[in-house]
Amino acid sequence: MDTILVLDFGGQYSQLIARRIREQNVYAVIESFRHISVDEIIDRGYRGIIMTGGPNSVNDPESPHYDPGLLDAGIPVLGICYGAQLMAQMAGGKVAAAGAEGEYGRTQLTVTENSLFKGVPEASICWMSHRDRIVEIPERFSVKAYTPQCTCAAMSDESRKLYAVQFHPEVTHTRYGTQMLSNFLDICGCDRQWKMSRFVQETAERLASELKGKRVLMALSGGVDSSVTAALLAKAIGNDLKCVFVDHGLLRKGEAKAVEDVFRSRLGDSLVCVDASKRFLGELAGVTDPETKRKIIGEQFIRVFEETANGLGGFDLLAQGTIYPDVIESGKGDSAVIKSHHNVGGIPTDMKFSGIVEPLRDLFKDEVRRVGLELGLPDHIVKRQPFPGPGLAVRITGEVTEEKLSVLREADAIFREEIDTADMSERPDQYFAVLTDTSAVGVKGDSRLYGSVIALRSVTTEDFMTADWTRIPFEVLERASVRITNTIPSVARVVYDITSKPPATVEWE
Ligand code: XMP
Repeated sequence: MDTILVLDFGGQYSQLIARRIREQNVYAVIESFRHISVDEIIDRGYRGIIMTGGPNSVNDPESPHYDPGLLDAGIPVLGICYGAQLMAQMAGGKVAAAGAEGEYGRTQLTVTENSLFKGVPEASICWMSHRDRIVEIPERFSVKAYTPQCTCAAMSDESRKLYAVQFHPEVTHTRYGTQMLSNFLDICGCDRQWKMSRFVQETAERLASELKGKRVLMALSGGVDSSVTAALLAKAIGNDLKCVFVDHGLLRKGEAKAVEDVFRSRLGDSLVCVDASKRFLGELAGVTDPETKRKIIGEQFIRVFEETANGLGGFDLLAQGTIYPDVIESGKGDSAVIKSHHNVGGIPTDMKFSGIVEPLRDLFKDEVRRVGLELGLPDHIVKRQPFPGPGLAVRITGEVTEEKLSVLREADAIFREEIDTADMSERPDQYFAVLTDTSAVGVKGDSRLYGSVIALRSVTTEDFMTADWTRIPFEVLERASVRITNTIPSVARVVYDITSKPPATVEWE
């Protein structure tokens, strides 16, 4: 399989580069510059190398540097931003700080003819983010692009297939960035045969060999990431995997059974389902403060997981459904499947594991979904919208009771079904119902009703850090409202939440 190595110098966009390459059906792996030598690069037979950006200055002796032998290894290399400056320095050129003015954001780029710029018009927009710049072009290189502030926005040594770009071709703001990366793949002679099915197959094989004889424990929430991780591990190590699924009684309609059904058929006895709903509801009785609710649920979840795990005997490794957006220190980690133990949110520190298994930590959410589909997981698991760990407890304002949970489950199922079947030009990213603690007067039949108010919430968002409320067609809202009030006797009113985040949050609590 033709593979591109993304040689990571601590850049913010290292994962994005790998993703852009994979999007063009060429496999890409990320490796920190600290963990791989030129000899290993040659041995592993990478088709091409991309040196990433990074926050440092190449003139700082403490900053990441690399063996200049890489440039004579006979492998095409593309340096991006810091990687471009490092290439210049490695090849004998000079980099200097550009005084007070850096170059950030959208920039007008002018390119000259070059195999990296095949199909790229002479003038286009690129995305810059740098303070230092290449001020002396190394021998054998020539300048191939410039911007108003940067006399060397790109350079190349065609004879050694070495290319350097000061801008970021991996971000969508660089209008012809994809074309440039595609040209680099052509320069590397990559065949574009890679598919997600190969990732699944090869990762499962790698996990099978690395985890041989080890007992692995996984907390399965039924969310997309942990579900896909569990399915991948089950394919790799079968009976050596144990998954613990805790039903805290705060799941949506039919959810606990759906998760159990899907995973029982795959995992058999390796799946342990714990119905802890009574315990959670008991602990939540009388509690109305949102933060207290969250703390109780978090604590109880840990205790149940711990008790169950202890009852199942010892485990060597803990598996997690970590995906790239969860990896806070982007690009700083190893790309190995197993890395040494770090602090794992939510898992008791006194539970000893010799390592953590995170096979999806290099993938973005949509890639994880594709892995799930490859593994044969059903749509309703793979395409699930995010669901908070504390579940419906943060969608019931005030005390959580069995009765309120059943009202909310019904209303929520109706609203989600209406959205799922509606003909809408823009699909919301998350949508659900909330049971408020407000009562309102209504009239049903000939009788007065003093009943509950259900709020509907639907948001459109890129990353859930900010979100806009969805402009749902009135007919869809009307159908949801009519069905909810007709079906659930205690509901007097349905309202729609038209608050963006900020100032609101997605969840009500
Ligand atoms: P907020 O309400 O903070 O939500 O705007 C942003 C996104 O995070 C989800 N969310 C959670 N997910 N545990 C989770 O796993 C939580 O405690 C939690 N709280 C909120 C929320 O559903 C939305 O997608």
